Amino acid sequence: MQLHLSSWPEIEAYLKTSKAILIPIGSTEQHGPNGLLGTDALCPEIIGKRAGDEAGILVAPTFNVGQAQHHMAFPGTITLKPSTMIAAMKDWAESLARHGFERLYWLNGHGGNINTINAAFSEIYHGISFDRVGSNNPPLRCTLRNWWELPGVMDVCKQLFPIGEGHHATPSEVSITYFAYPEAQKQVAMTPKIAPVGPIYDAEDYRRRFPDGRIGSDPSQATPEAGGKIVAAAVKAVIAEFRKFASE
Ligand code: NI
Repeated sequence: MQLHLSSWPEIEAYLKTSKAILIPIGSTEQHGPNGLLGTDALCPEIIGKRAGDEAGILVAPTFNVGQAQHHMAFPGTITLKPSTMIAAMKDWAESLARHGFERLYWLNGHGGNINTINAAFSEIYHGISFDRVGSNNPPLRCTLRNWWELPGVMDVCKQLFPIGEGHHATPSEVSITYFAYPEAQKQVAMTPKIAPVGPIYDAEDYRRRFPDGRIGSDPSQATPEAGGKIVAAAVKAVIAEFRKFASE
């Protein structure tokens, strides 16, 4: 069940059965020569939508722009300042809380978002504490889950791609997007076959170190079939974890 494809009476009815919602959160940033700019937003969206269809979980619109400063030397990347992202996440959370949602499960697709998401949770909780006296606000809990850390998912990725999984523009994440959008597949020869590894500083330095955008990966291995296997494992884990969080 997707919020943006529902009517308000349907959301009102859902709230009588559950106070929990899944929010995919990601980034719009370069993902190497054959990866889609939306990869980090699409992965949690694809997994979240399927979990929602299978288990009747309500899925919010995707928070699809995040912390991508270090990718800004590549065309198409869009980024938020950390302070902007924290403020926007707080407004999303307070909007949902206003309607009675009490459990926000943020399914994340971008490692660079983690610190800012946790800072946003602190900001959200501060808002609730400072408003508490005389407030009608319900209690609110936020949780963060990175899709690749869902139980069992990394085992599937390692089995599919024992070599060249790497750290950015990985064959696993590219496979997930190719599974959902097979028409968007791109055939690109990778040179070198496995991308270099190294530290991440700012955008200009990033492009000098990692000229085609990849870090440590060979995403030319990506296939829709592999993506389907990863999504199946992730959906199963999300449903179990979401239900537990919703009933806490
Ligand atoms: Ni990514």
